[in-house]
Amino acid sequence: MSHHLVETIDLCFSYPDSPPALDHVSLRITHGESVAVVGGNGAGKSTLLLHLNGLLAPSSGQVRVGDIPVTPKTVARIRESVGMVFQQADDQLFMPTVREDVAFGPLNMGLPPEEISRRVEQALRDVHAEALADKMTHHLSGGEKRAVSIATVLSMSPDILVLDEPSANLDPASRRTLISLLRQFSHTKIIATHDLDMVMDLCTRCIVMKDGSILADAPVPDIFSDCALLEEARLEQPLSYRLMQHGRERENSGQL
Ligand SMILES: Nc1ncnc2c1ncn2[C@@H]1O[C@H](COP(=O)(O)OP(=O)(O)OP(=O)(O)O)[C@@H](O)[C@H]1O
Ligand SMILES: [Mg+2]
Repeated sequence: MSHHLVETIDLCFSYPDSPPALDHVSLRITHGESVAVVGGNGAGKSTLLLHLNGLLAPSSGQVRVGDIPVTPKTVARIRESVGMVFQQADDQLFMPTVREDVAFGPLNMGLPPEEISRRVEQALRDVHAEALADKMTHHLSGGEKRAVSIATVLSMSPDILVLDEPSANLDPASRRTLISLLRQFSHTKIIATHDLDMVMDLCTRCIVMKDGSILADAPVPDIFSDCALLEEARLEQPLSYRLMQHGRERENSGQL
């Protein structure tokens, strides 16, 4: 079985006293894919992601990771496999210090102390946050919290990385570090984002959401070349795509 496979089947979800936030969402993401989930504010991206490790339970339909359905009984096992970085870092960080937060997952997995220390050091190094190890988490800046949030997930060595707006609040250098780090993560990645330039850098496939439904699911170039689709989804062609297209046009017209 592949723990790296993620599937939703006819997934529907409504928050109390609200219209459906997810409306019959079916998708299948296989091992090693790097998939962007994009769409305007309120399209349902975060709600979808929160189902992938059982933080929300479907109103109807199913979520599966590998061949395990996500249910209250399987959720602990699922969370060892699916690492989730939340849109709001304050939802992720709850221990007094950075080191304790990054150690929390491995500690819960019952790993020996020396392995926990090794993973904490490595995860903090990966996000260039070694210097923050002994800081109080509530004293961190927004971007520092984001980096530490990612470290809390990396320390669990997940098979599948699910990230909700990972580049929000990051300065350009930190954003670059994040992109390189995510590029090195060779397992399955699912990234909800408004940063379409990052999608160009990292993802091969793009799922476009609108009003809780999937509007399109296609290779990234097919999505970014479809201006009508982008407009319908409240999106715009990213600058890097336009520059690439411009370069191609110049090349074709012999101007280079
Ligand atoms: N806790 C909640 N209670 C009630 N409604 C909610 C709750 N969280 C989200 N919603 C509603 O569900 C819909 C989908 O929200 P969601 O947060 O999934 O969108 P999103 O695509 O992640 O948006 P954004 O780009 O702003 O992060 C929205 O209409 C939102 O108002
Ligand atoms: Mg969101």
